Amino acid sequence: DWTMQKFLEEAIAQIRHTVGEKGQVLAAVSGGVDSTVAAKLMKEAIGSRFWAVLVNNGVMRLNECEQVQKDLSEALGINLTVVDASQRFLDGLKGVEDPEKKRKFIGGKFIDIFEEEAVKIEEAAVHDSSVAGKIEGTLYPDVIESLSFKGPSATIKTHHNVGGLPARMANGQGLKLIEPLRSLYKDEVRALGRALGIREELVMRHPFPGPGIAVRILGEVTPEKVEIARQADHIFISEIRKAGLYDQISQAYAAVDPSRAVGVMGDKRVYGYIIILRAVTTTDYMTAEAFNFPWDFLQRVMNRIVNEVHGVCRVVYDVTSKPPGTIEME
Ligand code: XMP
Repeated sequence: DWTMQKFLEEAIAQIRHTVGEKGQVLAAVSGGVDSTVAAKLMKEAIGSRFWAVLVNNGVMRLNECEQVQKDLSEALGINLTVVDASQRFLDGLKGVEDPEKKRKFIGGKFIDIFEEEAVKIEEAAVHDSSVAGKIEGTLYPDVIESLSFKGPSATIKTHHNVGGLPARMANGQGLKLIEPLRSLYKDEVRALGRALGIREELVMRHPFPGPGIAVRILGEVTPEKVEIARQADHIFISEIRKAGLYDQISQAYAAVDPSRAVGVMGDKRVYGYIIILRAVTTTDYMTAEAFNFPWDFLQRVMNRIVNEVHGVCRVVYDVTSKPPGTIEME
């Protein structure tokens, strides 16, 4: 794609110009489309003077942290640091039921951890002889999806870290901000990702909220419910992929309803959680329609979930459109 090739060359030149010969750039990444494309672009422009940080907040999807590590570090050669803060997040989420409190806690804790890591990386870089000279300024590109999220419902829900972190960190520290994808629409970001050689499955990933599956577990987040949400979600998404439906759906996930229902399994009475499946199509995320799955598809997913996910005895499909429902559960 000629236009993207040209954009790419200009973006690389622009980044090099802003960063200078010795500048270092630090960014949080999530593994989503935007942050991955931006990270790869930064890597192409300044190599290992670009530092990507992935914070494992304990509410990522099944094997997601490992997968992002593979994609960014191994496949794309990005200089990535993974911080496993899952226990700190899960401890802090204990007893928190209110959706806004959950979001605020996760957003705030994320900033703390990212800042701690930034200090460590900066110190390490200063002492690393392979890095030419002292760091003269660290730049924070606005690349993490949850940071750059300018979603339509920001006024309805507090969006995790809405654009605030890079500006806050840059202020008073003489840091500059790089926002390489700022002028692009989502499909252009995807085209740029392809031009950068990022694999198709990654380029086409559905968006995932910053607070992760914490907003897909109604009420209190516990390790048990996180595990159930992960397993059920993994089954649902795998079946969607197998049926060739992934690219027709804008976003899909399995949520956990904390109230339990009675069921029979084998010849025993069981008392288990209810899994809510949600899949929507949308162009702008302001309005959305529930996806019209074939009946046998839903039954297949239901069968797998109740049989394979311990502690679940019912599966329901959410047919609510937006409005009045939102895309996420909380
Ligand atoms: P709602 O639930 O408001 O979601 O209809 C619209 C879009 O925004 C995403 N979303 C979030 N993204 N942090 C994010 O980074 C959040 O706190 C958050 N809440 C919702 C949601 O996944 C959907 O794409």
